[in-house]
Amino acid sequence: MIVAYTIERVRLAVAEARSRGLSIGLVPTMGALHAGHVSLIRSARRECGFVVVSIFVNPTQFGAGEDLERYPRPLTKDLQICEEHHVDLAFAPEAGIMYPPGYRTWVEVHELQDLLCGASRPGHFRGVATVVLKLFNIVQPDLAYFGQKDAQQARIIRQMVQDLNLQLRLQVCPIVREPDGLALSSRNQYLDSAQRDHARALHVALEEVRKLAEKGERDARVLRQLLASRIAATPGAVLDYAAVVDMETLKPVARVKGEVLVAMAVEFGTTRLIDNIRLSIATEES
Ligand code: PAJ
Repeated sequence: MIVAYTIERVRLAVAEARSRGLSIGLVPTMGALHAGHVSLIRSARRECGFVVVSIFVNPTQFGAGEDLERYPRPLTKDLQICEEHHVDLAFAPEAGIMYPPGYRTWVEVHELQDLLCGASRPGHFRGVATVVLKLFNIVQPDLAYFGQKDAQQARIIRQMVQDLNLQLRLQVCPIVREPDGLALSSRNQYLDSAQRDHARALHVALEEVRKLAEKGERDARVLRQLLASRIAATPGAVLDYAAVVDMETLKPVARVKGEVLVAMAVEFGTTRLIDNIRLSIATEES
């Protein structure tokens, strides 16, 4: 495995892979790799000739007072995981490589960036879209892999790819969970043991919503209130949002119909967790 710290090194390795006729797959990450990331790497490994994993804790997607400083950076372990999963190239730049002095250009995906997580994390998706476009330009992948765990992020990137005529295909992979249902996240390690126990409430509540929808409940407000009441009853949990939104617009729907995203963000102390499910309801029942 090649470990690259500079853009030039990445370009050289990718050009060499291309000259051998290999397709290029990119898995962008912020490191602290877990089984969720690994599922993306495995998909890339199956579908691409040359697999690139970027490991970069992107400072521009963290707001003031967020966890940029304490975000875990176990680089040696991350590189080991990449190696074990037959990654061809790991790209682990320093912040100054991605954002040299005088950096001034930003990508904004209007409207989508301001909803859901964007409402409580202003500027977050601007940082995400910007760094992802930079990674796309550096690596020039044929395929790029994202997780459904960050459904809004995947939707925003899809919009950016379409709007900016980027020549690549996005693959969005299912959420990988702990045995008790908690979605894997690099942030789960911030939770103390009581918080960790209670954090399963997100998944439990979302599955209750799924069952209610399967039984025929179409009123989005009822589903949202179910999420809110379950979180309210969970010790130490504070609901940031619970939303039932259209998959395309990410705007709230009144009735559950077609492709709907049920998403929530919950805080346990200073740790913010997100989770979601997709509902696919073919026709409105009476
Ligand atoms: P990070 O949180 O490290 O996640 C990297 C990728 O792994 C994202 O596409 C995310 O959706 C996916 N992922 C995380 N947890 C997952 C899980 N439990 N199951 C499946 N996929 C999961 O998302 C980011 O980094 C950054 O915003 C990034 C896109 C790298 C830009 O900086």
